[in-house]
Amino acid sequence: MPKKISLTQYLVEQQREHGRIPSQLRLLIEVVARACKHIAIAVNKGALGDVMGSAGSENVQGEVQKKLDIISNEVLIEANEWGGHLAAMASEEMDTIHVVPNRYPQGEYLLLFDPLDGSSNIDVNVSIGTIFSVLKKVGHHHGVDESDFLQAGKNQVAAGYCIYGSQTMLVLTVGDGVAMFTLDREMGSWVLTSENVQIPADTKEFAINMSNQRHWAPPVTRYIDECLQGKDGPRGKDFNMRWVASMVADVHRILSRGGVFMYPWDKREPEKAGKLRLLYEANPMSFLVEQAGGMATNGRQRIMDLQPTRLHERVAVFLGSKNEVERATAYHAESD
Ligand code: AHG
Ligand code: MN
Ligand code: MN
Ligand code: MN
Repeated sequence: MPKKISLTQYLVEQQREHGRIPSQLRLLIEVVARACKHIAIAVNKGALGDVMGSAGSENVQGEVQKKLDIISNEVLIEANEWGGHLAAMASEEMDTIHVVPNRYPQGEYLLLFDPLDGSSNIDVNVSIGTIFSVLKKVGHHHGVDESDFLQAGKNQVAAGYCIYGSQTMLVLTVGDGVAMFTLDREMGSWVLTSENVQIPADTKEFAINMSNQRHWAPPVTRYIDECLQGKDGPRGKDFNMRWVASMVADVHRILSRGGVFMYPWDKREPEKAGKLRLLYEANPMSFLVEQAGGMATNGRQRIMDLQPTRLHERVAVFLGSKNEVERATAYHAESD
């Protein structure tokens, strides 16, 4: 049997051979992975634990919080605040940043997360996940504030997600390709199960919430119309469609077999750029997708080049197989 490589061993080798991971960053990733194991246990308990349903509160984006949104947020904070590797954290579920309390040493990293992605799928037993992104504090000012988090996605030093699905997996990039780890429940360890993940440049599968069709902008309507015309249309091939409504699960499928994922701007809330959050969802997923040879834009620009202006900023997202994202992006340029 081939030797099993653990997450710890993978990180140590990245540190030793590629000089990519300073020890604080290695600790940070291991702590996040441990927190995800804890969240996986809560997710699996389902109705046997007090984890299902709504918490009766709202987050800063006006979404009703599920119990698991709050539990996962707390697990990530508690796991990360004492290690000395972080300066502060930001989350979809917190109005403002959480600075590491001064009873603990302050590190130089910033951790951003969507503690529970796919909240609407919790109560129906469909895959959900945790998404995270890591930045380094760049300013030399004393302390840390929200402005430290407003860095373009290309500054990320690590990003990943954990998917709580038919298997529990951790998918990670530290800027040297994408690696996938599967949780071995008996051993309690993350085992490397794929390395150098690559997204094929072409695909016949798209993911979009079709119920919003009437609200789309013309380039999105054009792109999807052409896919729907199938073999006899301008694309000359039949397309399949998938929409899990957990970004983690849709992106995991794309990393596994290709495809294109879109959550475009639409007319329902014209003042918002889109539904998904730049810092907690779009940036980390774009980093993974680019590291796997795919592409990620907001329809016009590379997502990781966007300069954030607010912590909870939203963005339109087109990501996945390179040739399809290029096409959807070109249709936006042609419509100007
Ligand atoms: P979250 O559960 O973290 O708020 O994110 C939900 C997001 C994302 O996971 C998914 O792609 C999208 O919302 C689904 O939106 P619709 O319900 O509008 O399809
Ligand atoms: Mn939410
Ligand atoms: Mn989400
Ligand atoms: Mn969420």
